[in-house]
Amino acid sequence: MTLPAPDPDRTCLVTGASSGIGAEIAERLAARGLGVTLVARTGPKLSDLAGFLADRYAVRAEVIATDLTDDAARRALPGEVAGRDLAVNVLVNNAGFSTVGPVHRADPEREVAMVRTDVEAVAHLCALFLPGMVERRSGAVLNVASTAAFQPLPGQAGYAASKAFVLSYTHAIREELRPHGVTATALCPGPVETGFVAAAGFDQAEAAEAMPRFMWVSAADVARAAVEGMHANRAVVIPGTANRVSAALAWMSPRGLLVPMVAKRHPGLRRR
Ligand SMILES: NC(=O)c1ccc[n+]([C@@H]2O[C@H](COP(=O)([O-])OP(=O)(O)OC[C@H]3O[C@@H](n4cnc5c(N)ncnc54)[C@H](OP(=O)(O)O)[C@@H]3O)[C@@H](O)[C@H]2O)c1
Repeated sequence: MTLPAPDPDRTCLVTGASSGIGAEIAERLAARGLGVTLVARTGPKLSDLAGFLADRYAVRAEVIATDLTDDAARRALPGEVAGRDLAVNVLVNNAGFSTVGPVHRADPEREVAMVRTDVEAVAHLCALFLPGMVERRSGAVLNVASTAAFQPLPGQAGYAASKAFVLSYTHAIREELRPHGVTATALCPGPVETGFVAAAGFDQAEAAEAMPRFMWVSAADVARAAVEGMHANRAVVIPGTANRVSAALAWMSPRGLLVPMVAKRHPGLRRR
């Protein structure tokens, strides 16, 4: 079993903890008695959640409101945590979003912000926090990818490629970390009802049409599977049987057949 035991000098740093999957993962960690440090841009939401977790689970819950697209803000994170006399022994790289539509009609700045949040921040935070875990021979990393990691996705090209990075990267660091007593797990959810759908520019009806009901899993169930998967030292966690089957099929299908089919069904390409 691999999640570290509760320790007043340690914290689980969870990015994207102001809503959705990140907030639920923070709660599942707190429910195990682990202290949490909640990171996202929206400070008041983080403070509300921190207050709730501290009251309900009697854990230390810290807040760092920051924009993870900002390289200097990311570099400041280890100092901010150390300044509170804490060390990060669980890192959850969950913050992320998707753009929707063909790249040739995209806002270039938004495309770059997506890659900064979904890829650059994951690699940067791992490089910043893993040395301490390796030195202490204790720690766990959860990187949030997506079932989109298993296939190219016309209509969300940059997003699926970003998540493919996260999945490949997590498999690789898992092996690097194995001799040092630190684990790495990739979480690959299918569709989940969170702020993600609206932030991507889908309306709920389009999302429901593109992804049948039986594929949707609640954020609470995704978080439960994620934290149990970390604890069981799983390499990859895909919540929901239908999502596991569809990810396996997508992974094995010839690209020449699969990608044109996916392009035909994607609402972000049909409406533009
Ligand atoms: N929902 C799905 O269907 C689904 C499926 C597969 C994978 N995922 C992945 O799951 C993760 C969580 O998404 P979610 O569904 O829970 O969506 P969400 O409710 O929209 O949450 C996204 C979180 O990321 C934070 N965030 C976004 N940009 C940020 C930035 N520049 N700096 C700091 N924090 C930032 C947001 O907080 P602020 O706005 O306060 O900064 C929010 O807390 C993402 O990586 C997403 O790709 C989601």
